[in-house]
Order: sequence, then C-alpha cells, then structure tokens
Amino acid sequence: MKSTSFAPSWALCSTLLAIPQLATAFYLPGVAPTSYKHGDKVPLYVNSIKPVAGQDALLHSVMSYDYYNEMFQFCQPEGGPKYVSESLGSILFGDRIMTSPFDLSMQKNETCKKLCTSKYDTAAAHFVNKRIMQGYALNWLVDGLPAGQHLLDDLTGTTFYSPGFAMGTVSTTDPDGPTFFNNHYDIVVEYHKVNGKEDQLRVVGVIVQPASKAYKGDNLECNDNQTPPVVLLETEGAQTEVTFTYSVYWTESPTAWATRWDKYLHVFDPKIHWFSLVNSAVVVIFLTITVASVLFRALKKDIARYNRLDQINLEDFSGATDLEDGVQEDSGWKLVHGDVFRTPAHPLLLSVFLGNGAQLFVMTGFTICFALLGFLSPSNRGSLGTIMIILYTLLSFVGGYVSARVYKSMNGEKWKLNIGLTPLLVPGIVFTTFFFLNLFLWANGAAGAVPFTTMLVIIGIWFIISIPLSVSGSWLGFRAPAFEPPVRTNQIPRQIPPATTYLKPIPSMLLVGILPFGAIFVELYFIMSSIWFSKIYYMFGFLFLCYGLMIITCAAVTVLMVYFLLCAENYHWQWRSFLAAGMSAGYIFANALIYLISKLSLGGLSGTVLYIGYSALLSFLFFILTGSIGFFSSWWFVNKIYRSIKID
Ligand SMILES: *[C@@H]1O[C@H](CO)[C@@H](O)[C@H](O)[C@H]1NC(C)=O
Repeated sequence: MKSTSFAPSWALCSTLLAIPQLATAFYLPGVAPTSYKHGDKVPLYVNSIKPVAGQDALLHSVMSYDYYNEMFQFCQPEGGPKYVSESLGSILFGDRIMTSPFDLSMQKNETCKKLCTSKYDTAAAHFVNKRIMQGYALNWLVDGLPAGQHLLDDLTGTTFYSPGFAMGTVSTTDPDGPTFFNNHYDIVVEYHKVNGKEDQLRVVGVIVQPASKAYKGDNLECNDNQTPPVVLLETEGAQTEVTFTYSVYWTESPTAWATRWDKYLHVFDPKIHWFSLVNSAVVVIFLTITVASVLFRALKKDIARYNRLDQINLEDFSGATDLEDGVQEDSGWKLVHGDVFRTPAHPLLLSVFLGNGAQLFVMTGFTICFALLGFLSPSNRGSLGTIMIILYTLLSFVGGYVSARVYKSMNGEKWKLNIGLTPLLVPGIVFTTFFFLNLFLWANGAAGAVPFTTMLVIIGIWFIISIPLSVSGSWLGFRAPAFEPPVRTNQIPRQIPPATTYLKPIPSMLLVGILPFGAIFVELYFIMSSIWFSKIYYMFGFLFLCYGLMIITCAAVTVLMVYFLLCAENYHWQWRSFLAAGMSAGYIFANALIYLISKLSLGGLSGTVLYIGYSALLSFLFFILTGSIGFFSSWWFVNKIYRSIKID
C-alpha cells in the first residue's frame, strides 16, 4: 500500500536524483580518474582529526585537530609532513590534508610494517585518552577516497562505507574505564581493472580496520588476536611507548570508478525521507492552493465592488443617500491606497537587507542547481564551499543592483550610504562573527581554525572583487528608473486602527514563520548532521525540492498575512512581511538549540559557544534570505491588487 502511494512522486524524485549520473559522462577538472600499474605508488594523505558520534549517538565535541598535532605523536613522513594543495572551500570546511609515511604500492600486499615508536607522557596520554572518549576519528584519503569503515544499515540490511575510523575504543565493560589506543591499521584497498586490463588499475574503495596491540619489544605480531590492547597511562611520571604498524591488502572489485562513491553516499532510512518530503509537499501544495483560491475570490469580489462604487460615483454625483451608504461601506484594503506605498521606516536598512537577500537567493538557487547537475562531485573536496564563495562574490552585482533599485523606489536620498552599506553591512557581520569564532578555535589549538593567510585571501576577495561588483551593480540600479507605484501617496498618513491579536507583530511573525520552516525541517536535520557529524551530504534532489517548497510556502503565507494586514487598514506591510517571513530563521535557530540539547553533549564552554555562534550566523543569513522572499512576493502582490482598482 505504501509503495503505491509513493509511486508518482518517487518517479519524479528518482528522475531528479538520477541527473548526477549524467555528469559522469564527462570529467571535471580535479576529478579525472587516475590509473595505476602494478607496483605504482598510491599516495595516502591524512586529513584533520574530527569528532564523530560516540557509542551513545551523541556528539561530544565540535573541534577538529591537525593530524600532526604534537600531542597525538602520529608517525611523520621522512622530511616532515607537507600540505597538499586544497581549494578555498575545502579549507573553510575544515580540511587540512597532509602527506603521510604510509607506503602503498598497487597490488602489493604488506603485513605488519613498522612505522615508528612514540612515547606518551602523562599530559599527552591524558589528551589522547580524552579525545578517544569524545569519539574522535582519523580521516585518511587514498586517491581522493576517504578511508572508511564497513558498516551495516540495520534498517535496510545494506552495507555502506562510513568515512573515518576510530582513533581508539572505550572499554565496553566500564564506560569510564580504560581507553584503548589504536596503533595498528589493516588497510584494505579495492581496485578495479578497467576493461580487465592489467595496466589500468583504479582505486575504488578503501577500508581501514584499526586495532590496538601492545607489542612486546620488537615482536610485531600484528595478526595475533591474543595481544593485549594499548592503554596510555596517565599516572604521574608514566611513559607509554607505542609502536605503530600497518598492513595493506589489495582486493579486486567489480565496482567501476564512476560509481565508487555510491557506497559512501549512503542514505539512511530513505523511506522516512520520502515520506516526510511527500508529506510536506502535500501540506504545502494544499496550503498554497487554499491561499490562492481564498485570495483570488476575495480580491475579485473586492475589486468588483470597488469599481462598481466608482462607477456609481461617476454616473451620479448628485449625492443620493444610497451612494453615501455605499461610500461608507467602502472598507478594507482600498482605504489605505493613499498610504500603502508610503516609504517605510528605515528604508536604507531594509533596502540593504533586501539586496543581500536577493544575492543569497540567487546564490543558493545556482548552487543547488549545480549540485543537482552533478558538478559538485564529492571527490572534488570542498567544491560546494568553493562554488558558494565564487557565486556569492560574483553575485554581489545583483545585490548592489537590487538594493539600489529598491532604495530608489522607496524614495531614499542617502544613496551614497546605500552603495557603501550593501557590500559592507551583511558580509561585515558575517565576517566579524566568523573571525571571533575563529579566535576561539585558535585559542584551543584546533585545526578547524581557518589559517590567517586564508582569512587574508577572503578579505582580498571581498574588497577587490565583491565590493567593486556591488558598487557597479548599485550604479546601474540607481540609473534604472524607480518602480512607479500604481496609486499616489497622500500627504497625511492615515491612523491605523488597533489590530486583532493574531495581526499584532509578534503573533503574526510566529504564525507565518513556522510554515516555511516546516517545509525544510526534515532536510535541515540531515544538513545539520552532515555539518556537525561530518557526514557526506549528497541528497541534492531532496534539497532542491525542499528549497522550492520553502520558497512557495514563504511567498504564499506572507502574501496572505499582508492581505489581512491591509484589510485591517494597516499599511506597514514592508517591514512586517520581511520580518514575518524571516521569522522562519528564528525557528531554525530554536531547532538548533533543541539539537544541541538532544544530539550533542559538548560539556565545555568553547564547544557550546562555537556551536551557538555558527548556528546564529547561519540563521541570520537564512533570516535575510526568507525575509527577502516574503518582501518581494508581498511587493508584487500589493502592486497587483492596487493596479486593478480605479482610484480617482
Ligand atoms: C592480498 O590480500 C588479499 C586479501 O587478503 C588477497 O585476496 C589477495 O590475493 C592478496 N594479493 C596478493 C598478491 O597476495
């Protein structure tokens, strides 16, 4: 029964989800396959050490560390580790990729190779044990593929690869008891022969099975299961010696290179996913149709009545009593025609927000479309972040243009301030918050901190590309004609009668904001787990649909609110529509706080500050985005309805 009810949407969605496969027909720079021959060196790179959910399914930290942080004392390659060049987006998203001492040669099995021996004093032992308790995982990359663990999804019975593997384990008998530090790695690399050719071997899967083995002296028996585990002693003056070893096994796999990521992009519980998507789609469509039909009928009646009154007015101006009655009946939104296009309070701030909102709107739309078309391959690390930065920078032009045009239409006079604030205010708030959160990471010595040079690059991009583009957009926007309102504005503002409870600012914001939030709620959950639990997010088909649903909901409910507002003779629709639609960001922030309580157990001030800081930053951007959607749809609506009535 369930499967049949899903059928139509399933077909649509699988079409959308199938689009990425088209892109595999051609290769993008950086994601072309590498072919190896027997015995060729295959590099293994190490990435920053990130926390993942512990056995209790809670996340205990949000900070990542450099692989070669001196506290961990992991073995270094000869001549010291070197950075592997990365894209800006990859660095911003916390990747720090470096060379490693592992020696992998295609099709050459190795057993119990020794890497190095490290000594852990009390402080280092305490540090490492704490990280093991918090569930930190090592992240390696072999030929661009993350080394993962082979996991079984209990729900669907399918197996998948989860990127990263544990740095150690906590004793199962006593959760506060000893932690076992992994010092041996069984690396299984799957390779594929292209058309069965021996000289075209490609890496299509990497699994690492870590183990903890306290070797006695030089006796490296890494296949002996009886070896006791390594415990780093924290007692005063203790020195624990640990020898690191690894084995490499090459196995042939039928998986082709083009589909090698499929096992990593595992969708948990797709049924729930589909169910909630279809669910919210039905609700949204139902809501929109209701709004549209109610509005359409009410408006048709209103407009017909207003225009009829108008005609009576023209034909018979001798002043019959029933005409008088008719004029008195004239109530509702027509009454405020002389005020509805009155310049709102703080037009400068509103226009700057709207310009930035338009910029974010176009950027998000383009990014999701690029992702949907498969341009953001997961092997191109950080491509999502990079493309977002590039688009955001280039679209400053749109931001400047929209901001200027809106400001001009609101009869703004401080045009210099508008030109200056558009590229400075919102990006400035974002950058300052980002900078202070980064100071926090620096103070904690975490690798998630963006290097100072990267900060300079960002400032450079902002000032050299983004600001000039925005200014030229503003220049064009100010030269373009202002939008002429369809009705004239009176000299003297009308009195606004007191509003009913639900039309008061706060209740109306709470009511309007919850619906767009409802449309993206499920997807948001997956995005948050991909951000905080470092899972790969690749459900752009879902995201695309949800984004569309959110836009429609946002526009529909805001327009409805504006209609009620105007009927109540309140003409302050500009800020009200912006704030009401933007309120969905308030729900997103509240949701993030609930997530903090239910899924995270950070247990420290700095982790909590970081989490709340980043959530607030993202909510702020979302506020501007949805607020602008609400405003522009209301603007369109108000123009439309006042254009259709005759006013003498
Ligand atoms: C390497 O190890 C794998 C897994 O144990 C095995 O299937 C394969 O035959 C071995 N290859 C060689 C060349 O020994």
